[in-house]
Amino acid sequence: INITFVASDGERRKVEIEEGETAREAALYNDVPGIDGDCGGVCACATCHVHVDPEWIDKVGRLTDGSMEADLLQFAEGTTEFSRLACQINMKSILDGLVLHVPDKQY
Ligand code: FES
Repeated sequence: INITFVASDGERRKVEIEEGETAREAALYNDVPGIDGDCGGVCACATCHVHVDPEWIDKVGRLTDGSMEADLLQFAEGTTEFSRLACQINMKSILDGLVLHVPDKQY
């Protein structure tokens, strides 16, 4: 499954990840800058904040109101309607080709 991470300066990095892993893992295994994932992927730090490309948001799904993820992102910088935590995006085949935008800084 392919994911393209787009940095804030427009640089695109295409990486590969197995089904069942998360977008956070995809970023960390490939040293994609801007995704720290400090909490180990348990939805507790928000340093894996990404903006899902608008074309992909329906497939990925939006934040659910009242979820832990939404609560965390409330306090993150630059949260938009396309914001998600990469550790909460489980990769599956329908997400092949996913495009995620990485904020220029976390928090
Ligand atoms: Fe910490 Fe995603 S890695 S919230």
